Amino acid sequence: MISSTDPTTANPIYFHDYHPTPSDLRAEVLAGLGRPRKQLSPKLFYDAEGSKLFDAICELPEYYPTRTEIAILREHGAEMARRLGREALLVELGSGSSLKIRVLLEALQPAVYMPVDISSEHLQLSAQALAATFPKLEVHAVCADYSTPFELPVDDHSHPRAAFFPGSSIGNFEPAEAEQLLRRVGTILGPEGRLLIGVDLIKDRARLERAYNDAAGVTAAFNMNLLSRINRELDGKFDLARFRHEAFFNAEQGRIEMHLLSTCDQDVDVAGETFRFREGETIHTECSHKYSVEGFHALAGRAGFQPEQVWTDPEQLFSVHCLVHRP
Ligand code: AVJ
Repeated sequence: MISSTDPTTANPIYFHDYHPTPSDLRAEVLAGLGRPRKQLSPKLFYDAEGSKLFDAICELPEYYPTRTEIAILREHGAEMARRLGREALLVELGSGSSLKIRVLLEALQPAVYMPVDISSEHLQLSAQALAATFPKLEVHAVCADYSTPFELPVDDHSHPRAAFFPGSSIGNFEPAEAEQLLRRVGTILGPEGRLLIGVDLIKDRARLERAYNDAAGVTAAFNMNLLSRINRELDGKFDLARFRHEAFFNAEQGRIEMHLLSTCDQDVDVAGETFRFREGETIHTECSHKYSVEGFHALAGRAGFQPEQVWTDPEQLFSVHCLVHRP
């Protein structure tokens, strides 16, 4: 479905809706809660409320990735733009509020900007706001779940293609899935297409765990909102007082894990089915994998990408890679 939204503004955006239907949500939640080790996908965090809470996380003093990545983009944006080239068709995966791309747009001068995000309203508002600030930029907002295969709404290869995948969202995927996702990005880009991707670096446990256990409790609210969302959208009966947020670094797997922990034995109804929880049992809601520069290069290589350049901050907290697709 294509619609041009808000034609009263100077630069209306094109909106392409591949939005997952509510039955997809129901099926995913019932399947995830039905597993011997209960698990829900982190993409389910991002309803309207979850997207707002995520933006609040990005402002937290403990949550270093966002501000560190933005500092790297500010510092090296001109060089990144030279690598990616002008007049590109620029696809952004998980664009959220489209704040990071603003840092690069002046230097990048893309012909077309195509933000892809799962959160429909948030995407539309952000894309409209961006189009208003960049009146000559053609903006195609794509509401889609990029963790599953999808096609770009344009079949125009007259522009060089580039992709922007910031925020270390790649860390949400198991290494094998991450490789598969990068391979699909490669297919979208074609040979010699560039990928600019943000990757959080392995560091000491205390620093990592603080970033996911902030003092103000915003990350806890973000995690718990998944239960509220299930209550709202799937007639769930989760009692939020009987669950708590848990986040820790799993050093063997090199990842932060977030869970929702049941503080007692209880039965919970969701969409007409009953799920039993033992005291201390968890729903695993997120993995956030951390990489070394070399480790990430190895993963990218397996997906058909060659490293061109990597930028980091002075403390080595975060990395931004320019990769070229050479399958
Ligand atoms: C958007 C997946 C990169 O893993 O750090 C932040 C999400 N979860 N705090 C991350 C998140 C809890 C974030 N990513």
